[in-house]
Amino acid sequence: MSVIFIIFQISVVSLSCSFGEEINLYGDAGEAYAIEVNIGHPHQKFKLLVDTGSTTLALAAYAREDSSVYFHADNSSSLYNSGTTIEAAYTQGTWTGLLASDFIQFPSLSIPEVRSDFALITKSHEFFTKASVWQGLLGLAYNPVGAWGKSGAVESWLDALDRNLNKPMSFQLKLCGPISTSNTTHYGYFKVIDNQTPQSNYNKTFRTPVLRKRWYEVGVIGVRVLSSLTSEAKNKTADEIREPDKDMCTQLNTVKSIVDSGTTQIKLPDKLFREVVDELKNEFRKSQVLILDEFWNRREAACWLEPQVWTLPWLAIDLLSADADNQYFTLEIPPQNYMLVVGVHNSSDTSGTVSTYCYKLGLETGYTETVLGYTAMEGLQVTFNRSAGWIGFQTSDCGANARITGPYNTSTSLKTTCELIKPVAEVATSIQAAQWALCAISIIAASVLLYLLAPCIKNLFLKKMPRSQQISLSQAALVEEDSP
Ligand SMILES: *[C@@H]1O[C@H](CO)[C@@H](O)[C@H](O)[C@H]1NC(C)=O
Ligand SMILES: *[C@@H]1O[C@H](CO)[C@@H](O)[C@H](O)[C@H]1NC(C)=O
Ligand SMILES: *[C@@H]1O[C@H](CO)[C@@H](O)[C@H](O)[C@H]1NC(C)=O
Ligand SMILES: *[C@@H]1O[C@H](CO)[C@@H](O)[C@H](O)[C@H]1NC(C)=O
Ligand SMILES: *[C@@H]1O[C@H](CO)[C@@H](O)[C@H](O)[C@H]1NC(C)=O
Ligand SMILES: *[C@@H]1O[C@H](CO)[C@@H](O)[C@H](O)[C@H]1NC(C)=O
Ligand SMILES: *[C@@H]1O[C@H](CO)[C@@H](O)[C@H](O)[C@H]1NC(C)=O
Repeated sequence: MSVIFIIFQISVVSLSCSFGEEINLYGDAGEAYAIEVNIGHPHQKFKLLVDTGSTTLALAAYAREDSSVYFHADNSSSLYNSGTTIEAAYTQGTWTGLLASDFIQFPSLSIPEVRSDFALITKSHEFFTKASVWQGLLGLAYNPVGAWGKSGAVESWLDALDRNLNKPMSFQLKLCGPISTSNTTHYGYFKVIDNQTPQSNYNKTFRTPVLRKRWYEVGVIGVRVLSSLTSEAKNKTADEIREPDKDMCTQLNTVKSIVDSGTTQIKLPDKLFREVVDELKNEFRKSQVLILDEFWNRREAACWLEPQVWTLPWLAIDLLSADADNQYFTLEIPPQNYMLVVGVHNSSDTSGTVSTYCYKLGLETGYTETVLGYTAMEGLQVTFNRSAGWIGFQTSDCGANARITGPYNTSTSLKTTCELIKPVAEVATSIQAAQWALCAISIIAASVLLYLLAPCIKNLFLKKMPRSQQISLSQAALVEEDSP
């Protein structure tokens, strides 16, 4: 009796300890956030990208050119390998694998180990990045966009967890961005939460509905550059009537708008992307900072000799509110978020060690789609209530000082005005037909970047460039005129 009591005590203590916050997500510059996982019996340890843009857990099961870390299927006594082939194509990269199931356990999460389906990746193309520290993906989206085997949908890890606990669980992402100006590793927190557990962050939650439970599809009402740093941000009152730009919001949601932690950038439909970038470019011209066109147009990194403090406009993203059909709220994204730090590089010179700080634009064309990548989530605490179908945003205690304002009322239904409810063709079949055109990872090739940087640094010293001047990675544009 007493023994049982002691064990009970210990488990309660360890449970409450692990509910305290512990950093459990890390990512390299430009790459998404990854979590440590134990798979199989005995445990084999891996890192998986936390990806709300796909559903199926997929893991490398073969040695790649650049990495010898992979799942040794023969070594797990609990593995069940169905032998069924499955494949997937993401925004970047493809893989082919075998449908399997085994025990999945996250050392940083206080939830039970569960048996879940997953894919053993046996072949891939441009899926793993050269120096990537991760070996697979942890898909967190809904079943309709998961991989399919012969016997139907492949169960996601979250569904396996819900089934095991016999209740729906939600999860939370608190992404914080780079550790410091000299360390570009970014960090954050991933938490699975019981729907009955009281919230620990009492900041107001702004909820947006998941319009369709496939990806996390939401209603984006507008994306704007906040023209002045103070006037709009500090001088608005909630509950005021503000009409949406019908043209913009229908454009944003023509195909779909998703919240995707596996994507780096904020992606906008092409026309809007160009409008927003033009506006930012104009604002930049007014400031002292010089930025070459390649940065905006050719997605190149721009580097400086010291970390940049951006006094640039904020970006506003309006999202449909879950409380009323005629209401929206605004995520206000600071420049620290969309000026992504993609590398800090030290190099030695006769004059000593020099550091260069490189940045890339956190905005990209999504062609016809809208993707809110992790650039839109850093500095916020984001709760994904899968079963109830909403995503909640709160300001957080780490990362950039992103803000949330609103709610704002409109005079008409936003779902109607912005054409947010469209009949969707037979979900399962249309997705199967689309050959797993899942949205997932978009990765910046940091290794290429550092390689290209070396000649720039050399030139920099030969030409005695003034401090704070930008170095471009493009060989042709190494020197920029001083005056705007
Ligand atoms: C396979 O499992 C054994 C223990 O059963 C362990 O000693 C060995 O290191 C494992 N090999 C790999 C590659 O994980
Ligand atoms: C950056 O921080 C991480 C996590 O604390 C650490 O593992 C890594 O070594 C650091 N990198 C550098 C270059 O200091
Ligand atoms: C998810 O939504 C349900 C229904 O609205 C609610 O009861 C539950 O508390 C929510 N979970 C979280 C973590 O907010
Ligand atoms: C709004 O800002 C203007 C200056 O931009 C100021 O004069 C005015 O008092 C502000 N209004 C409120 C309600 O804060
Ligand atoms: C805004 O809309 C909500 C929900 O429809 C309503 O409760 C609130 O009174 C409205 N506020 C204003 C200022 O119209
Ligand atoms: C670069 O040098 C600075 C200062 O000497 C140091 O703090 C930093 O950790 C170095 N970064 C890397 C990536 O080596
Ligand atoms: C609530 O938000 C504020 C910023 O608005 C932040 O400073 C604070 O740390 C947040 N609280 C928690 C518990 O995240």
